Amino acid sequence: MKYVLGIDIGTSAVKTCLMNEQGQIVDEASCTYRLYHEKSGYSEQKPQDWVDGITVSIQEIIGRFSEDAANIVGISYSGQMHGLVLLDEVGEVIRPAILWNDTRTTAQCEQIVAQVGKERLLAITKNPALEGFTLPKILWVKEHEPENFVKAKSFVLPKDYVRYVMTGKVQMERSDAAGTLLLDIERNDWSTEVAEAVGIDITLCPPLIDATTEVGTLTEAFATATGLAITTKVYGGGADNACGAVGSGIVATNKSMVSIGTSGVLLSFEQVPDKDFGGKVHYFNHAVTDAYYTMGVTLSAGHSLSWFKETFAKDSSFDELLAGTEEVAAGSNGLLFTPYLVGERTPYADSTIRASFIGIDTAHTRAHFAKAVLEGITFSLRDTLEIFRASGKEIQDIISIGGGAKNPQWLQMQADIFNAKIYKLQNEQGPSIGACMIALVGSGLVASFEEAVDKCVAMGEVFVPIAENVAVYNEVYKVYTQIYEHTKSLNEALQAFR
Ligand code: XUL
Repeated sequence: MKYVLGIDIGTSAVKTCLMNEQGQIVDEASCTYRLYHEKSGYSEQKPQDWVDGITVSIQEIIGRFSEDAANIVGISYSGQMHGLVLLDEVGEVIRPAILWNDTRTTAQCEQIVAQVGKERLLAITKNPALEGFTLPKILWVKEHEPENFVKAKSFVLPKDYVRYVMTGKVQMERSDAAGTLLLDIERNDWSTEVAEAVGIDITLCPPLIDATTEVGTLTEAFATATGLAITTKVYGGGADNACGAVGSGIVATNKSMVSIGTSGVLLSFEQVPDKDFGGKVHYFNHAVTDAYYTMGVTLSAGHSLSWFKETFAKDSSFDELLAGTEEVAAGSNGLLFTPYLVGERTPYADSTIRASFIGIDTAHTRAHFAKAVLEGITFSLRDTLEIFRASGKEIQDIISIGGGAKNPQWLQMQADIFNAKIYKLQNEQGPSIGACMIALVGSGLVASFEEAVDKCVAMGEVFVPIAENVAVYNEVYKVYTQIYEHTKSLNEALQAFR
């Protein structure tokens, strides 16, 4: 039997899955690592922590693997998007990685719009300048850390860095490159026009590869450190949201997915690169060649819930935290939460906005607060759904993955707030399954992504909207959508005190 490994480099942990050639996950291991928030709005990680976590997770899997390690024939990746890793001329990391949820780059976004032009930027990259994307981070380093910038010879994204350490080859995979703001999405190549307009040397951009491109084999050092065979082949991989879509079977037709991890994403497949959403949602290349997807992003989705638990119920498990919430009525008895803990992306690209609880009443208990957090995260994802529906997209069925798909109550809430059927997957493992599927296709163990979906993806329980709850949530959502405008200037005034 042959096997592949799928490695998902997430924001809070790495998760590695071992899949056999029949598409079954036979083992998995994960390892957490730290996030550094040196100042409000800053979010960084040490690339070496990703490599160490991956090494430990592979060692664990190899330790339990009873067959010859050479039967693990392929490896691929899923990675948190947009994070900037700068490499010097000998390929050493210059400074910690600046992550997707770091919002320090508002001035650089304004600079990009001024230099490239708003319409031209949208025409080339299909996306507006947002703080989380990679180009503003490069410009921030150029301006604030010139001593680091002069050392930079190339930049890569988190999973591309890990692949570089494992193979010695500096490359960037296209579904991830799409989130840099330097890729011409339709031409699927670097945009010299954008690079020149903002004063970035195009040679900083590494060679582009596809998700299933065979990059080579492992370095001797990495094979020795993990116990993998040196003959194991390595394939490009994909952005975590593209991999989540692949792992949910979204590779060809007009299907949609909601993914609640640290961030929250509502994503929908697109066959063509030129539908017009006016930059309100992200438009990226899929891991599947010549396909695309659009999505909106809630910066603090699962992060809002873990923040709430860490801050107010540190000693409880998530199950304990959510235990009383089932008894709380839809709408949390008039308590609302907006999940803007680190600012927001969709539908409000605003790095200054912060979260709120609105309507706190003496009758509210911790269970009401916990339920309001779940509802607020889900309302925020509905904001994206509204943009899709307003554009004419019919969305009645949504596949739910990530932490938000682990709790039946939250799945029902998604059905009620989205007024759509929510599908749970039978073997929900998040984007690492998509990474395994890319390795299966890359290695030729299966002929196509469609065949990989037939083998690996099976729908599980379906959650159908409950009319009574849909009606309540439609009313409460109307109030939710007003909170942003009412709290915007308050948060601007509070910024000085953060
Ligand atoms: C997408 C985004 C996040 C990260 C999380 O644009 O920033 O979903 O990919 O890993």
